[in-house]
Amino acid sequence: MVIFDALQNAAKRLRPKRINCPPDQNVGWLEAEILMAHTLGREKSWIMAHANRALTPAETRAFERCVRARLAHKPIAYILGYQEFYGRRFLVNRYTLIPRPESELFIDILMQEPPKDTVIWDVGTGCGAIGISAAREFPSVHVIASDRSRRALRMAGDNAFAHGVDGRVMFLRGNLLSRTIVTAIERANKTLMVLANLPYLPESDRKKLQPDVVAFEPRRALFAKDKGMALNKTLLTNLRERLHTVPERILLEFDPPQSRDLKRFASSLFPEAMIGVHNDLAGRNRILDIRFGT
Ligand SMILES: C[S@@+](CC[C@H](N)C(=O)[O-])C[C@H]1O[C@@H](n2cnc3c(N)ncnc32)[C@H](O)[C@@H]1O
Repeated sequence: MVIFDALQNAAKRLRPKRINCPPDQNVGWLEAEILMAHTLGREKSWIMAHANRALTPAETRAFERCVRARLAHKPIAYILGYQEFYGRRFLVNRYTLIPRPESELFIDILMQEPPKDTVIWDVGTGCGAIGISAAREFPSVHVIASDRSRRALRMAGDNAFAHGVDGRVMFLRGNLLSRTIVTAIERANKTLMVLANLPYLPESDRKKLQPDVVAFEPRRALFAKDKGMALNKTLLTNLRERLHTVPERILLEFDPPQSRDLKRFASSLFPEAMIGVHNDLAGRNRILDIRFGT
């Protein structure tokens, strides 16, 4: 079979209805192209320029494995083994959440006033996308990246190495602001910024989520108690109670319906801070911004 015929056949099977995608006629074809490029180790542009090239039996089998995985709802990023974030490629696996485009807002916000000689604590780092992007964008910054998942931290370590920032990113395993993390922050003795994209979905969302997410992404990376706010609230309380000095800035990603509640919670804990909210590209409240001292 030639590439074009294999694509056409796969595109038909990957039609949006089957894989719960937005009602875009081309999604099946786009996904088939991505999977073909991955199978053959080529760019998408090469695939269409060689549409009449015959596939070998091994290539046909490998492509079919990818198509079947996708039909079983496996997210494309887990099939490819990577996801783009802020223009860079991050390795992902089933122990790491797939970084979402809305989290790129953390870096956009920092870009407005680039941090210098600062320690950034990336809480719940997953594959490391946020902390490592910060280290790449701001060369004088040091990052502490923490997670409670050892396997996620291993992947984040590989990503830091791949992006050449392993010398500036320290990985620590721990539950929120654990003693080890307090010690690392205090030893660094620099201005601290906290970036947190912790699990924030309420368990009640489970039924509404696409099977791609619920069946494949790590449960402990998605859901939190107290209508999804438990971890963010505990983190804020830890920051108030366990550090000698408050951070310069805390940025927390959250689920849009939590905006008012979280803002009120933060105001009561940090009455001295300036507290604002940033919207994502869809115009929804997405990141809580707590600033001190300016
Ligand atoms: C929503 S994912 C975000 C991953 C990454 N920051 C990103 O944006 O792609 C949340 C991460 O927080 C970690 N996590 C969950 N509970 C935690 C806790 N109590 N302390 C530290 N990390 C936690 C999960 O293992 C997961 O990697």
